[in-house]
Amino acid sequence: MTEKKEVLISFQNVGKIYRTGSIVYEALHDVNLEIMDGEMVVILGPSGAGKSTLLNMVGGLDAATSGRILFGGLDITGFDDKRLGEFRAKDVGIVFQFYNLVPTLTAYENVALMKELGIEIMDPGEALELVGLGDRKDNFPSQMSGGQQQRVSIARAIAKMPRLLLCDEPTGALDTKTGQEVLKLLQLQSKQYGRTVVMVTHNSAFADIADKVVLVRDGTVSDIKYNENPLDADKLEW
Ligand SMILES: Nc1ncnc2c1ncn2[C@@H]1O[C@H](COP(=O)(O)OP(=O)(O)OP(=O)(O)O)[C@@H](O)[C@H]1O
Ligand SMILES: [Mg+2]
Repeated sequence: MTEKKEVLISFQNVGKIYRTGSIVYEALHDVNLEIMDGEMVVILGPSGAGKSTLLNMVGGLDAATSGRILFGGLDITGFDDKRLGEFRAKDVGIVFQFYNLVPTLTAYENVALMKELGIEIMDPGEALELVGLGDRKDNFPSQMSGGQQQRVSIARAIAKMPRLLLCDEPTGALDTKTGQEVLKLLQLQSKQYGRTVVMVTHNSAFADIADKVVLVRDGTVSDIKYNENPLDADKLEW
């Protein structure tokens, strides 16, 4: 039996134009998309297609130039910078390809940093336990493997218990086995904790673990596919 899910994010004819000096570049056009609450979404497409641009707009990191983006029914395209900042701080966790950890801080301190930015978070030690790094609290990034550093960045993103977890090529810098552990953690965020997870990748094998696969090509959504029974990240091979 499938439970009924609600729409969390809705894109209505969204477009994005970048201006650099006199050069105008249309990175996205006519994007229509719905992301359901608790859904695991994979955004796939070739380099330069507009995946990161789309992800940034999902999380209010960048503003659309046209169209509307609704989050939980609220029009975030109308938010000013202050409200957008509050929205990101409260509702959005982000995981990047290259971890973005502060090298001079331990794993624990990297997660705890969120609190100093005024963001309400769970106990940093607990967040690190959740990603299997309970015994690595006092390690600096340079003392951890790439996969462990990425897990710290996931701990940092989930410590504030965001509704939405965004990941841009989260396994891009990792080997297959470590990448798989990271994918497992991300899938768990959706399946066990009911978070909405949106992951950008150019690895089409990752499509199998998603509830919904959004194909981006030439600056727009070219196709959307659904997996009735998403594959466990454990079983993924690539
Ligand atoms: N800040 C910017 N200013 C100007 N052009 C930009 C900017 N950011 C992205 N672009 C352009 O918009 C297009 C889409 O970029 P985007 O980063 O979204 O692609 P992508 O699908 O994530 O690619 P990749 O897989 O290589 O990361 C590209 O042609 C890029 O050069
Ligand atoms: Mg990108």
